Amino acid sequence: MRSFAGRDILSLKGFERAEFEHVFQVADELEPIARARRSTDLLAGKTLVTAFYQPSTRTRLAHEAAMHRLGGNVLGFSDAKMTRAGDFYQESIKDTVHMLEYYGDAIVMRHFQQGAPHEAARWASIPVINAGDGWGEHPTQVLTDLYTVRRELGQVDGLTFLCIGDMRMRTMHSIGYALTQFDAEMIAVAPPEMSLTEEFTAELAAQNLDVRQVDHVAEAIGEADVIYMEPVVQADYTASRDERGEQVGTTPENYRVTRELLREAKSDAIVLHSLPRMDELPPDVDDTRHARYWEEAYYGVVMRMALLSLVLGAQER
Ligand code: CP
Repeated sequence: MRSFAGRDILSLKGFERAEFEHVFQVADELEPIARARRSTDLLAGKTLVTAFYQPSTRTRLAHEAAMHRLGGNVLGFSDAKMTRAGDFYQESIKDTVHMLEYYGDAIVMRHFQQGAPHEAARWASIPVINAGDGWGEHPTQVLTDLYTVRRELGQVDGLTFLCIGDMRMRTMHSIGYALTQFDAEMIAVAPPEMSLTEEFTAELAAQNLDVRQVDHVAEAIGEADVIYMEPVVQADYTASRDERGEQVGTTPENYRVTRELLREAKSDAIVLHSLPRMDELPPDVDDTRHARYWEEAYYGVVMRMALLSLVLGAQER
């Protein structure tokens, strides 16, 4: 297994089974600190730089919370408009990163351009963590999701994942890559214009993950152990909630998970959603025995604690 110390976390493509297990083990070791709402000095003297060129609630704050729990420092920006990258100068990633590497010991970057964190990693002498790059990947989210599955269901092997929503989204790419490393099944439900590309499906098949595609969530909900959701109604990030008014679409029943539909699910099936949600997951699902998205948010802090402690060399390997 490759060492994590000093390493970039950019993609789950090529992330090996032993690496998943190691990250989960480190997360298990650190989880009691988060559960007790304590902090330690494991990363005292280390600084995380947050470089968020796209909005985020969970990913940025979970990384920041993780860093605080581990006794480290955080600085950064959450809106590129407040930086020279977002104004008249349109400062390049290369120039920006050459500055950021002097300000901290690791960079966590979200960017609207696919591959931007990879570009940052080319120039940075410190680890770069991909917090979501355009339609690319969202590796720390999917590590969080699989860790949640392991905590809630005991293991990932042997499970069927019913993935619902826009298959072009970055989480769907990362979960596909991740599941190639487990004895798991993946079923996809998406509108035709949002389905998995032939190229990506073939790439997963070449790694022995054959994705079955169905038209309606009702066709497969009874088989699922993990109901893994993303919206199909995409937010218009250029408009406020007030401005968007009637423009918001509604999600077809094919891609919604409701209380009524969950009557057809296995009794121990869990629903994950990286959030934010639209109408594909009504709030009255929250108090069913299936909902695990709040636990998923909690484990998001634990997983970032594990990743930061690993890439900053505070853990063995
Ligand atoms: N899950 C997730 O990526 O949420 P944010 O966009 O709020 O970071």
